Amino acid sequence: MTSLLHITSSLFDAADKLGVSTQLSHELIAGLRAANPDLQLRCRDFAQTPIPYLDNAWLGALFTPAAERNDEQAQKVAFSDALIAELKAAEVLVIGVPTYNFSVPAMLRSWADHVARAGVTFKYTDKGAVGLTGSKKVYLVIASGGIHEEGGTDHVRPWLRTFLGFLGMNDLEFIVAGGLNMGESARAQGLEKARTNITTLLAAARKEN
Ligand SMILES: Cc1cc2nc3c(=O)[nH]c(=O)nc-3n(C[C@H](O)[C@H](O)[C@H](O)COP(=O)(O)O)c2cc1C
Repeated sequence: MTSLLHITSSLFDAADKLGVSTQLSHELIAGLRAANPDLQLRCRDFAQTPIPYLDNAWLGALFTPAAERNDEQAQKVAFSDALIAELKAAEVLVIGVPTYNFSVPAMLRSWADHVARAGVTFKYTDKGAVGLTGSKKVYLVIASGGIHEEGGTDHVRPWLRTFLGFLGMNDLEFIVAGGLNMGESARAQGLEKARTNITTLLAAARKEN
């Protein structure tokens, strides 16, 4: 049985107007499921369950010894712990990533603050940082209104690569649907390119199974 964690971070969550990153990540997962019917799916939808900022009170809760935490602090720590546990348990991770203001959505950035925990998901050694999340296949389904190139205005892929790599996840596949708000033809091209990429990745996944 393969466990898959599906994270969606688009703010568009209505059934009639799903975010493109959400829609395409569902299509990818449907294909992965067809290739592997035993896939055990866990979903975390930030539009349904928002990820709060790691603020001063939250950090205080994390640094308070477990036996001394009040109920509110215990709840805060339990929330972060749950995000970490589901990440570590997943063998495959699929994240739907809209581009907001040249970066990832604030809630995805906030999720990163919750799951990056020294001694649990990473550690520093005399040779540098070591990720502790366990190796997993990671699919990142990115949507953007414009077109952003790496080395230019794309700060999404570099950040994801750096952050996930820091936690030990280096087997990354990027699926990018760009130009979605640049007119009908550009949108159709962006979607087609992403779907072609998904088809190629699914063929590779079938070979591995
Ligand atoms: C708050 C906000 C900020 C955005 N910033 C950018 C941006 O910096 N660059 C870009 O290409 N598109 C930007 N867009 C457009 C989105 O990337 C585009 O609508 C994309 O489809 C969002 O992904 P989704 O459909 O999965 O929600 C922005 C949209 C919103 C709502």
